[in-house]
Amino acid sequence: MQQQIMKNIVILISGGGTNLQAIIDAIEVGNVPGKICAVISNKAQAYGLKRAANYGITQHVIDHKAFPDRESFDASLKQQIEVYQPDIVVLAGFMRILTDDFVTHFLGRLINIHPSLLPKFKGLNTHARAISTGEKFHGASVHFVTPELDDGPVIVQCLVPIIDKETEDSLKVKVHKVEHLIYPYAVKLICENKIKMNSNGVQYMDELLPETGINYNAWT
Ligand code: GRF
Repeated sequence: MQQQIMKNIVILISGGGTNLQAIIDAIEVGNVPGKICAVISNKAQAYGLKRAANYGITQHVIDHKAFPDRESFDASLKQQIEVYQPDIVVLAGFMRILTDDFVTHFLGRLINIHPSLLPKFKGLNTHARAISTGEKFHGASVHFVTPELDDGPVIVQCLVPIIDKETEDSLKVKVHKVEHLIYPYAVKLICENKIKMNSNGVQYMDELLPETGINYNAWT
């Protein structure tokens, strides 16, 4: 069997870190050929740091409040991340808007999970907005990050139905559950070199594409 090279992963968090946990779990059971080199939080109290500690993963806190502006915070963050020469930088509930400079630096290796079926409901309060506009479905999207907020090419999505009497909290629970399936899956695809970002969006290796008889000539 072909030996897979472990990809270096850095994960950025601000809070509970359930998506971080899902990725840790997927690595632990051997589903994802990657190594989490570090978890970085902009909040010292983030529970996700405890999750990382449970697995002996290196952690850093870089408090955005200690910096005069977004640029200097992002510069410091970039420097710390680059210590690990990551193949993938995973935003897992990292609640900071990143500068164009930061995003451009990591373009193609920076991914995010957003709680909506993008391009619907970019930004905050997605669950409440989906309910109030009468959507029948809501969900989650993993996407490559580009400078415009929640706008990069989508890698994978999963939808959940919105039922009668759905509340923001009940919908949030359902969406979180599918996040924990699709985020490790997207990380796995990147670690296995099965997808990458190119100028047209996401390029999928032929074996992931449906049998149509078309030669996608997708992987060169
Ligand atoms: C998730 O809902 C994700 O979609 C959003 O932030 C939340 C993070 O949750 N970007 P957790 O910290 O991984 O539990």
